[in-house]
Amino acid sequence: MEEKVKSIIEKYGSDKSFIIPILQDIQREFNYLPREALDALSRNLGVPPSLIYHLATFYRAFSLNPKGKYRLNVCMGTACHVRGAPQIADYLERTLDLKAGETSKNLEYSLETVNCLGACALGPILVVNDEYHGQMTIAKTAKVLEGIGAKVEADE
Ligand code: FES
Repeated sequence: MEEKVKSIIEKYGSDKSFIIPILQDIQREFNYLPREALDALSRNLGVPPSLIYHLATFYRAFSLNPKGKYRLNVCMGTACHVRGAPQIADYLERTLDLKAGETSKNLEYSLETVNCLGACALGPILVVNDEYHGQMTIAKTAKVLEGIGAKVEADE
């Protein structure tokens, strides 16, 4: 892990002002920010651990806990809410057997909610990793789940 972190730091010329993109790359590499990686970052970039942990916990995009291979994010903002986002979220919770904020034990799926993705006209929206799915229905959500290998009840 130390070597991987070093190579990411080198990509940015060991410049401390790039700490956020460096953290983003570390998260992309491991799917979250492992403690050992943050310690290696502190040692190799010469930045105090307190600053790194502050940044890692301040930004919602960063996670100190392992995330699933597929991160599902349901928009629960007002526009999506009135168009059925709660039903989509319920369906995902039941099908994946996860509550919002949880990750499956096999590290395949993480389920999250967000307050507005800024694309309200497309609501309700489900984002899987970085891919947006708009005007979601239960049937469309089932298709998306099938596409990422989830077990979907035939009659849903
Ligand atoms: S409320 Fe969902 S994108 Fe704005």
